[in-house]
Amino acid sequence: MSVTHTRIIATGSYMPEKILTNDDLSKIVDTSDEWITTRTGIQERRIAAEGQATSDLASNAALRALEAAGMKADELDLIIVATVTPDMFFPSTACVVQKKIGATNAVCFDISAACSGFLYALQVARQFIGSGTRKNALVIGAEKLTSLVNWKDRNTCVLFGDGAGAAILKGVNESSTSRMLGSVMGSDGTLADLLKVPGGGSALPITQENAASRPNTIHMEGRETFKHAVTRMCQAAEQALAQSGYTANDVALVIPHQANARIITAIADRLGLPEEKMFMNVQRYGNTSAATIPVALDEAARAGRLKEGDVILLVAFGGGFTWASTVMIW
Ligand code: ACO
Repeated sequence: MSVTHTRIIATGSYMPEKILTNDDLSKIVDTSDEWITTRTGIQERRIAAEGQATSDLASNAALRALEAAGMKADELDLIIVATVTPDMFFPSTACVVQKKIGATNAVCFDISAACSGFLYALQVARQFIGSGTRKNALVIGAEKLTSLVNWKDRNTCVLFGDGAGAAILKGVNESSTSRMLGSVMGSDGTLADLLKVPGGGSALPITQENAASRPNTIHMEGRETFKHAVTRMCQAAEQALAQSGYTANDVALVIPHQANARIITAIADRLGLPEEKMFMNVQRYGNTSAATIPVALDEAARAGRLKEGDVILLVAFGGGFTWASTVMIW
């Protein structure tokens, strides 16, 4: 079979059982359910169990995607994990997942692009499949973001949660209408300081002296990030649609990065789309960074909201800054 296109053949997701509500948070920091709900739309988020690492969340999502695809783990050619909360600096979380699910024949590596990570990884996998180097790929977005949260900082601790989503990609030929189409990726490192975890890496290792100021937690200029997120996601979505020969009117469902309900509403307004075309689960999970889009994709697929032939728009924005958008025919 001559492969000319790539499509998603199956999805899976895994969210930890433990729920942290806004009322729970109001006992930890000076906040309220009313503030969090009106500013972000978030009502609760999931927290990984004691001893559960990002690779555990990722492996559970991967096994569900494999089951949906009717594939065995040793049939996988490539595993890419998008994460900013790897189990450790190395080996890659993808290698740990490989071991946990028994994907003995896959080549494995991680991608770091914060909340845009899953869409970046999707494009990388697509290049491998399109070039004929690999027949299939497992792409995972997985985060234990609560491991980077400063539970004393009300500006950030209310926003994030843990979870994982996965998609299995395969090469298809010209006769398949289901395929990935236009795709846009962008980065602006000059704005890196607006959203970062400054410490814990080689630039600022954690020491006894600096540990108390928690440099190894998420620091974010929320208002600035919000503005860039709306602008970049709208631009990326419009460019990816134009590349594909579609307009916003053709889109059956948008799966946007889930950071804030107000950002999703602003994107819908600018693209001229009704809110029912914007998939939203941020109220249940908060921002799970690279995991938001694959988790949403899986929930939409299992809820029957993705029909064969539908035009689906995925769009993300995150630390870096990074942004990306992909159009696909489901
Ligand atoms: N509870 C109560 N009050 C709070 C809380 C809280 N949890 N957090 C902040 N406040 C206060 C602030 O201290 C401030 O008070 P002040 O006016 O007295 O100084 C006031 O609320 C307003 O703060 P803002 O920052 O202006 O609030 P804003 O309406 O911008 O909402 C938010 C903040 C939710 C963070 C928003 O800016 C946002 O969603 N930003 C974008 C996040 C995002 O998209 N991230 C992208 C990717 S994330 C990634 O890559 C990992």
